[in-house]
Amino acid sequence: MPTPLKRIGVLTGGGDCPGLNAVIRAVTKDALHHGLSVAGIEDGFLGLIEDRVRELTDADVSNILSDGGTVLGSSNKANPARFCTGIDSDGAPKIEDLTETCLQRIESHALDALVVIGGDGTMSVASTFVERGVNCIGVPKTIDNDLWGTDLTFGFATAVQTAVSAIDRVRTTAASHHRVMVVEVMGRNAGWLALHAGVGGGADLILIPEIPYSIEAVCAAIEDRRHRGKRYSIVVASEGARAVDGEQVVERMDLTSPDPVRLGGIGRVVASQIEERIGVESRQVVLGHVQRGGTPVAADRVLATLFGDHAMELLKDGVTNRLVVMRDGRLRDTDIREAADKQRLVPMEEPLLAAARSVGTHFGDM
Ligand code: F6P
Repeated sequence: MPTPLKRIGVLTGGGDCPGLNAVIRAVTKDALHHGLSVAGIEDGFLGLIEDRVRELTDADVSNILSDGGTVLGSSNKANPARFCTGIDSDGAPKIEDLTETCLQRIESHALDALVVIGGDGTMSVASTFVERGVNCIGVPKTIDNDLWGTDLTFGFATAVQTAVSAIDRVRTTAASHHRVMVVEVMGRNAGWLALHAGVGGGADLILIPEIPYSIEAVCAAIEDRRHRGKRYSIVVASEGARAVDGEQVVERMDLTSPDPVRLGGIGRVVASQIEERIGVESRQVVLGHVQRGGTPVAADRVLATLFGDHAMELLKDGVTNRLVVMRDGRLRDTDIREAADKQRLVPMEEPLLAAARSVGTHFGDM
């Protein structure tokens, strides 16, 4: 790390989430205040590949704290080491390694360090850069809350709140029509979002990838409720949930992405199976990208600001190649390479699972 540090680059990679702007603001304001200049890299690593890098001023980051999305733009496809340049005639992606191009850009823009705000894919790219001598500090984002090494990512609290508000609305119509409503939430292979939204929204059943469900058990739980006079049920299903004897439901394959699987459709599958098996009218609601949008809740703004500040503290102390994390309620940092391409799933000893079960929530297991 050069001393003194003069210029940093900042980028947001992967799927967006509420709170990204709060980190960009925290990092940029702190850097400018300490006499550093800041280069904003547009659309994640794509901005390095295509040389779209712009100066960030105080005016650029003023009044963005409460804005969703990212003023820098993002891409969840631009892994420079496995960059898709097109699809060939037999449908296979054409892959090129553009790491060298990115390293040249970092040099030509005189970036002493990068602050990379992203999830596991972004940290994986950052790890490649670290191996090539680039100074990187990672800041963990994702609505999925599945980044290895941290108990919490910013964006998660807002997505949970959005999903809970939707479940509250679904509940009244479910009650009026005595239906089963299956609310499908995001989360990829981790059930954090479904678990928290389900508990916060008082779901009767929560289906998460970590606990494969049996449709017989799901139907039995709904019938049991009906026998107890509860004529409607709310099921929150994580997009990555799967039956014990089934597979995850894939909505599409995006071959231009290094992580091509896009999950989706479990809500439809579960709702139709319930209707067929026990004859209770069922509907599904897919919350989809609504969960990624909108203004960040205060907790995410605060967490994002803390993370951004810690990233800058590390850089100013000459520390590099760390991922800012929150563990046991304390701000810490860990080797950025540890978080690459790993997902933090819900462990069976997670206290919220037991708490949910003790208020009668079913997980579709036997
Ligand atoms: O990782 C964030 C996330 O929103 C997942 O929950 C979801 O599976 C995926 O991204 C959707 O990706 P895309 O925006 O490419 O549809």
